[in-house]
Amino acid sequence: MIKPIGSDQLNPLFVYDQDQHHQLMREAETLPSVTISSQAAGNAVMMGGGYFNPLQGFMNVADAMGAAEKMTLSDGSFFPVPVLCLLEDTSAIAGASRIALRDPNMEGNPVLAIMDVAAIEEVSESQMATMTQRVYGTDDGEHPGVAAFNSQGRMAVSGSIQVLHFSYFQDDFPDTFRTAVEIRNEIAERGWKNVVAFQTRNPMHLAHEELCHMAMDRLGCDGLVIHMLLGKLKKGDIPAPVRDAAIRKMVELYFPPNSAMVTGYGFDMLYAGPREAVLHAYFRQNMGCSHFIVGRDHAGVGDYYGAFDAQTIFHNEVPKGALEIEIFEADHTAYSKKLNKVMMMREAPDHTKDDFVLLSGTKVREMLGNGIAPPKEFSRPEVAQILMDYYKSLN
Ligand code: ADX
Repeated sequence: MIKPIGSDQLNPLFVYDQDQHHQLMREAETLPSVTISSQAAGNAVMMGGGYFNPLQGFMNVADAMGAAEKMTLSDGSFFPVPVLCLLEDTSAIAGASRIALRDPNMEGNPVLAIMDVAAIEEVSESQMATMTQRVYGTDDGEHPGVAAFNSQGRMAVSGSIQVLHFSYFQDDFPDTFRTAVEIRNEIAERGWKNVVAFQTRNPMHLAHEELCHMAMDRLGCDGLVIHMLLGKLKKGDIPAPVRDAAIRKMVELYFPPNSAMVTGYGFDMLYAGPREAVLHAYFRQNMGCSHFIVGRDHAGVGDYYGAFDAQTIFHNEVPKGALEIEIFEADHTAYSKKLNKVMMMREAPDHTKDDFVLLSGTKVREMLGNGIAPPKEFSRPEVAQILMDYYKSLN
């Protein structure tokens, strides 16, 4: 199986030893503690599961700036985005060398992790602006990722962590939430050799399903890992339990047995387009996938990124040799009325736009909201039904 990044074995930061876990939970109650931001909590959950291997904890400002500016940390290692724990108020942890980080997303703010504090630094407005611009490609406060990043405090607390909890993800998505360690183990158990990962924050329509089949066929993969984001999204996006149900139905009906795994990870969407695509590839390598699908407008929002910027970044900006995972670059994919099948547009040069079944996200939402199933050339009827039931439940 493909090696993790930066080490031969994956080293998740979750404390799996039960005695040690118990002891740390007791210790945590005696430590100065602070409730962290949702973004920082997502970072802790990802590090707990081994996805951000070989990071040992939250970055200091120099590393965060290096990640933002050149995807390179002070020690020369590769990481595509800052992994910060930004706090507004550090008075509760002033002078402490060991602290507990509390979960903002769960009732009672339980302890998520313990940190050995290496530094507490103030991030200047100019450093925030540089990181924002480099990671999101814009400083527009209307961009949901930019807004979320900048809504955090300006005090960066850094240091190694021991993760004690996977937040609400394990309770809310017991069948779907997986750590990178678990996914590696399951790939090995299933005996898959070449494995392609599909990132998604949406329900999967016919074009997505076919894109996965195309990738598997062309790459000679024996397995597909559908890996959905389970954290926070912007308003209007479809909630994870509904997406999960729709994707499970699609896999049950339209994928051969033992060819696809339906899984998810606990992280808030950044909407950082190209940079997020690199982060996505990074953690798919860590979970044991040899290939990763990047299609049109990957991790994008609005018109902030070019439709294929998330592919070109791998050629133009990712340091050579930083990633072993291979990117499957997909063109805009849609149903061809001429050929009666889903095609990548660049592979149908004699077609015009009108030869394809193209529906905007807004149009699809409007149809589903009115109880109208999109045409079968766009959505599987069983998937459309789950989405229509969801929209109906909102009224
Ligand atoms: S994402 O924000 O998680 O990337 P989404 O769930 O919409 O969004 O897309 C999942 C993957 O499918 C991404 O790689 C995206 O580029 C790709 N994709 C979605 N729709 C299409 C399409 N019509 N043609 C080609 N690729 C697509």
